[in-house]
Amino acid sequence: MHESTTRMTQPILITGGAGYIGSHTAVTLMEAGHRVVLVDNLCNSSARVLDRLRRLCGDAFEFVQADVRDGAALDALFEHRTIASVIHFAGLKAVGESVAQPLRYFDHNVGGTISLLQAMERAGVRRLVFSSSATVYGDPASVPIPETAPLTATNPYGRTKLVCEDLLRELTHADARWQVAILRYFNPVGAHESGLIGEAPSGVPNNLMPYITQVAVGQRDALNIFGNDWPTPDGTGVRDYIHVMDLARGHLAALRYLEREQKSLTVNLGTGTGVSVQQLVDTFARVTGHPIAHRHVARRPGDVAACWADTTLARKLLGWQAEHDLARMCEDAWRWQAMNPGGYED
Ligand code: NAD
Ligand code: WQD
Repeated sequence: MHESTTRMTQPILITGGAGYIGSHTAVTLMEAGHRVVLVDNLCNSSARVLDRLRRLCGDAFEFVQADVRDGAALDALFEHRTIASVIHFAGLKAVGESVAQPLRYFDHNVGGTISLLQAMERAGVRRLVFSSSATVYGDPASVPIPETAPLTATNPYGRTKLVCEDLLRELTHADARWQVAILRYFNPVGAHESGLIGEAPSGVPNNLMPYITQVAVGQRDALNIFGNDWPTPDGTGVRDYIHVMDLARGHLAALRYLEREQKSLTVNLGTGTGVSVQQLVDTFARVTGHPIAHRHVARRPGDVAACWADTTLARKLLGWQAEHDLARMCEDAWRWQAMNPGGYED
């Protein structure tokens, strides 16, 4: 079958497809002409995202409520469809929670990945895009961080990503039929420009951008800025914020690479630019017209001063680079929050 025909007819399986990055990636894939099957146990997402996806993309997707640790459910899923590739987002992602519940994190993130790989093996589907994280660089010795930098884990969440990366490296070495793209995301923020889908954290947000948008919409009184004595230009922490739609497009580029080159890769997905907490707060206020009340508090345990990506490899191998600037990230994050003050539950 011609490659483009295959692309149209054989769906791509997206685990964690109801979640933040998974739902945005689903839109990007559908807009590129793919059919997608979303699988999610909804432990950190809402079924209401499915109505939003239907409004954006029509019926080019199917949803299966299942847990990736459930091998029988995955077998049934693979048996009834000819899946071309899998993008594996499903997992737990809260660093603090992982310190308190390491067993649960290893179960979902490592156990879930093993269960998925075994089901893929049984089904003869050996093309995978895996969600890793810049957290595998720990406290980097220097920035920007290339993919060759030393890997380490500073908390159980990070350890689960490192263990999965190690497993995937062993797997591709052992069996050349496996083609795996390990994508190390920096700090995903923003939302689809429609304001229909976005990040909907439950409880108090751990991450900076959703905290800022909740202050702006009046749900929280002020942002706590964790540390103003970091060795950075303005003393606040520096990160590489990347628009979630750029990140989604990076997954499409990685899938195309695997199809085209028939080999594995590990790449950073970031913008290559470091932005401080203060800069993000100031940009958000300028772009949206909502000043963000804030106070300086002690550093958050486990944080690092600065972390941003060397993006040379992604540009070279994937022909991909981020296109949306910080103002656009703020604008889109705010549109989503303003249109959906209670996330999907309104
Ligand atoms: P998310 O929580 O919004 O999405 C993850 C989805 O996986 C959720 O819908 C959840 O219900 C589902 N899920 C969890 N465990 C499952 C299981 N056992 N079976 C089936 N579904 C399950 O998170 P996200 O921000 O979209 O992150 C997606 C992936 O990217 C995760 O693997 C995360 O670790 C990774 N990542 C996220 C960030 C970030 O800052 N958002 C950064 C780097 C890496
Ligand atoms: C960004 C900056 C904070 C909240 C985390 C995970 C990482 C990855 C992405 C999954 C830092 C500061 C934050 C607040 C603040 N996730 N901050 N007040 O810590 O870079 O990365 O999410 O893989 O693994 O560790 O992102 O958004 O939490 O923090 O001052 O209320 O904002 O100190 O400098 P982080 P973040």
